[in-house]
This record gives sequence, C-alpha cells and structure tokens, in this order.
Amino acid sequence: MENELDRMFLHSKEVPKIDDEFIKYFNNFREYMMMYNCAIKEVRTKFEVLNADFSVTYKRNPIEMIKSRVKSPQSIFEKLQRKNLELSMDSILDNISDVAGVRVICSFIDDIYEVAEMLVSQDDVKLLQIKDYIKNPKTNGYRSYHMIIEVPVFFARKKQNIKVEVQLRTIAMDFWASLEHSMKYKQDIIDTDYVVDELKKCADIIASTDLKMQEINNAINKEKEIV
Ligand code: GTP
Ligand code: MG
Repeated sequence: MENELDRMFLHSKEVPKIDDEFIKYFNNFREYMMMYNCAIKEVRTKFEVLNADFSVTYKRNPIEMIKSRVKSPQSIFEKLQRKNLELSMDSILDNISDVAGVRVICSFIDDIYEVAEMLVSQDDVKLLQIKDYIKNPKTNGYRSYHMIIEVPVFFARKKQNIKVEVQLRTIAMDFWASLEHSMKYKQDIIDTDYVVDELKKCADIIASTDLKMQEINNAINKEKEIV
C-alpha cells in the first residue's frame, strides 16, 4: 500500500495534495533532519574539544579539518528503496546509519587511531560498527577509517539516540577520495582498465607517502625527547 512518503517524495512529478496530513508529514521529516543536524553538532564538538585539548597538552593539532553533511532526502529514499525497506521515519532511524555524516581529516595515520579511540571511549558514545579501510583498503585503493556511532541528543521534550557515520582520513587519503569521487560523478566511462589501474597506483603511492610522513614525524618526536 502506498504511504505518505511515497506520495511526497517518490512521485514528485505529481503535484502533492497540500492537505493537513501532508503538512504533518513534511513537518515530521523536517524535525528528523533537525535531529540529525543536532547529532552532527554534538559529534563535531567532541572532535573540536579533543583537538583543543591536544593543542594545549601536546602543542599540536591532530585534526586538520572537520566536514559534515546530512544526507539529502532523495538519497535517503533511494537507499531505502534499494534495500527494500519500509519508507517511514522509523525505518530511517533504524536502518540508515549514514544520514548524519562527519568526516575528520587528520595529519597522520596514528592520529586517526588515537582520535577514534578517544571518541569511542567517551561515556555517551556507543560504537556500533568499524570498517578499517586503512588496514584493509578497498580493491580500488580507497583508504579511510569508518565508524558508525550512536550518541544521545537531548531535545526540549525528549532524548533521542542518533546514529552518525564518522569517517577519519589523512589529508592524503582525503585528496585521493575527493578526486576519485568527483571524477566518477562527472564521467560515465570511468571503469576502463587504465583508469582503475592508474587510480589504484595513485592510492598506493599516496599511502606510502603517508607512511613516510608518519616515520618522519616519529623521528622528529624522538629527537625532541632526547633534546
Ligand atoms: P553506502 O551504502 O554507499 O553508504 O556504503 P556502505 O554502507 O557499504 O559503507 P562504506 O563504509 O563502505 O562506505 C560509505 C562511505 O564511504 C561512502 O558513502 C563514501 O563516502 C565513502 N567511500 C566508500 N568507498 C569509497 C570509494 O571507493 N571512493 C570514495 N571516494 N569514497 C568511498
Ligand atoms: Mg553512505
């Protein structure tokens, strides 16, 4: 049976009937997106606090940049459909773990693991899933450390646990992933052997540079200890 979400989003070519029920659903959806936005704010703050503490305690910033986004309604519903899931707000909360996304760009590989550990050891952070594409890169060369966490967000009249996808990467990993992503979006004929091979080669070169940078940084830190 077709429900309200079907009516609103999936047959968008039809002009929806703006009745009370439609407005109720629309407001409901806006409320959910507001909740996801608040979860993002909370997680961003956690990372900002860690970075601030690091800069005072260790005189350096392990986090270069934090980016975040809420998944677009269209992508949310496409994903529900692709996975044959019910199109409802509850279904989004239960099944889609990347509506709220936070991307943390770190200086060094070791920073990624350190910052991730500091985050998940906090009382109010529940770790639901880890995908370590640094230790186990994707076949195309993609590297990043992914976590799905759940954080409680306190609203005026309720507390809601909300899932957030956190991706941690080095600057180098982000450089590769951003370009690979934008090239894939722009072109239809992407997966030729040449493109796949060359992108993979670039990813591997970048990964070895990351390792080298880590080694140099370790050597500098060791030098500081001696002096
Ligand atoms: P989705 O259903 O797309 O969310 O994938 P998934 O549930 O299998 O999760 P996974 O952790 O593998 O990837 C989630 C996110 O990581 C994507 O939405 C991208 O932001 C990023 N990602 C994963 N693989 C690649 C890749 O090959 N290239 C780039 N540029 N980004 C990737
Ligand atoms: Mg995703």
